[in-house]
Amino acid sequence: MRRLIYISTARTAVSKQELDEILRVSRRNNQAVGVTGLLIVGGRRFLQALEGPSESVMTTYDRIKADDRHFAAVILSDREIAERSFSEWAMGYQPAGTPRAAGTVASDVAALIAPIIDPIVHAYFEEFAKKHAA
Ligand SMILES: Cc1cc2nc3c(=O)[nH]c(=O)nc-3n(C[C@H](O)[C@H](O)[C@H](O)COP(=O)(O)O)c2cc1C
Repeated sequence: MRRLIYISTARTAVSKQELDEILRVSRRNNQAVGVTGLLIVGGRRFLQALEGPSESVMTTYDRIKADDRHFAAVILSDREIAERSFSEWAMGYQPAGTPRAAGTVASDVAALIAPIIDPIVHAYFEEFAKKHAA
């Protein structure tokens, strides 16, 4: 099993409709090939984790990377894992950069990532949340 985490930048601001469509297609495709993960969107930044069988993760990432809606994809982490951190989600979603009454984005994301045991994955998401919390 493998987990790949990358960051990228949207070419233009992503509308709620576009995002819904990305998530709909992602969940359908990912479920079919055993990929789970999390997508965090903050302004024009995407942070996404993809995990599952190595072949499925690579095929999925190669397809995502070629998507014109974003660019400058940079892999932050890509390694073998013993177990999934996002087993609940064919593709979970966390909006960042729009603080809610309940708390700051950082605290929203902190709550979401709380169950993640892997300290490296945790740190990546925490850093990302902090950067977009201002
Ligand atoms: C930020 C971002 C994340 C995406 N994540 C996924 C994903 O996890 N799984 C997926 O299948 N497609 C994802 N996509 C969409 C793919 O780039 C591509 O449009 C889609 O997989 C094509 O699927 P289709 O051939 O079934 O229409 C993502 C696109 C963007 C811009």
